Amino acid sequence: MIVEPKIRSNICINAHPAGCAKDTVRQIEYVKAQKAKRGIKTYAEGGKGPKTVLVLGCSTGYGLASRIAASFEYGADTIGVSFEKEGTETRGGTPGFYNNMAFDKEAKAAGLKSVTINGDAYSNEVREQVIAEIKKLGKKIDLLVYSLASPVRTDPETKVMYKSVIKPIGKPYSGKCLDIIQEKLTEASAEPATEEEMANTVKVMGGEDWKLWIDALTKADCLAEGICTVAYSYIGPELSHAIYRDGTIGGAKKHLEKTARELDAQLKSGLGGRAYVSENKGLVTRSSAVIPVISLYLAVLFKVMKEMNLHEGCIEQMERLFAERLYTGADSQMADVPVDSENRIRLDDWELREDVQSKAVANMNATTDDNLAQYCDLAGYKHDFLAANGFDVEGIDYSKDVERFDVI
Ligand SMILES: NC(=O)c1ccc[n+]([C@@H]2O[C@H](COP(=O)([O-])OP(=O)(O)OC[C@H]3O[C@@H](n4cnc5c(N)ncnc54)[C@H](O)[C@@H]3O)[C@@H](O)[C@H]2O)c1
Repeated sequence: MIVEPKIRSNICINAHPAGCAKDTVRQIEYVKAQKAKRGIKTYAEGGKGPKTVLVLGCSTGYGLASRIAASFEYGADTIGVSFEKEGTETRGGTPGFYNNMAFDKEAKAAGLKSVTINGDAYSNEVREQVIAEIKKLGKKIDLLVYSLASPVRTDPETKVMYKSVIKPIGKPYSGKCLDIIQEKLTEASAEPATEEEMANTVKVMGGEDWKLWIDALTKADCLAEGICTVAYSYIGPELSHAIYRDGTIGGAKKHLEKTARELDAQLKSGLGGRAYVSENKGLVTRSSAVIPVISLYLAVLFKVMKEMNLHEGCIEQMERLFAERLYTGADSQMADVPVDSENRIRLDDWELREDVQSKAVANMNATTDDNLAQYCDLAGYKHDFLAANGFDVEGIDYSKDVERFDVI
């Protein structure tokens, strides 16, 4: 069967197995080149970087990129957890399913251990499964990456399912959106969140589950001395604050950041460890396409950052996180991690640079349906949007039949 992208309401709902695999390999090749350029040694080569890494949300976006950097730049063994629909012989799976397959295949070929678990990371059952796998490896986790992004979470004790929403707080919001398929501007609006919606969004995307993981792994004696844990967050430009940073999702992110400070104190006193939130750059994902303003802002931002030679994707961001923030000591040992006054790692430093922002804001204000191509990186945005599902990936012959959907 010929597999073409199926797009519904700005969301791509299918995946190309070979395209996903190829894009995963592209990211692996990138970090291998960076390893050579930076002269990084894996722990097998005498380096002192991460050795045994747990990535929650390992299959796409920032989590996949983190796992790739840990394994293919630092030689770490990894356990990854994600929630993906598996492909069958005749039915397609989600992109992360194919990315995981490609990752495991490449890791095996490189002699690295990788255990990939498909299940609900918010459940106690998956926590127990991970603990069993860590025991089986006979190792302790020295880096835990928390990169879950989900619209729902079932509380593991009460079994109540909570839903997150992207809404402003206090007053309604409306803003321009980019419809990348039609290449036109649309208007999106959202009513202010109720108290309950605000609390539910914190329940899903805040720090509660991250702490449950740290507590369960501490109790099971699965965390190494000096353990580091990092979760990902976003601040974004002033113009998006009403819908993002000061809205429901921002409320959840502030809770995540508060949890980081609490976990930092907890891990420091117990295991000499640390906990951080890393504020990452805004990138194209399934969810950002439907957040008012963000899609248009990203398309404008990409053009500005590419012109200034500052643009990064997930893999470039995560490689920089490892090499320039976390493992900067001799032989890639963890050293003092540069943080802001709120103990946050800032990988959004280039995005939020004064010169980048002033140009992006001016360009956004000037953008109309008639001059979209002048101010937006339409091709780059569209490529990232499609490539996240394995389409528009260089080197893939999309006219070729996909014979089965359970292989890559
Ligand atoms: N995309 C951005 O622009 C951006 C910017 C800054 C920070 N972040 C943050 O980075 C983190 C990751 O976001 P992303 O954009 O890489 O998202 P993503 O959608 O690409 O990845 C989410 C991951 O979570 C997994 N997942 C979701 N629900 C799960 C569940 N119940 N059990 C197990 N796994 C589950 C998915 O399988 C996937 O691996 C989020 O916290 C997000 O807020 C994203």
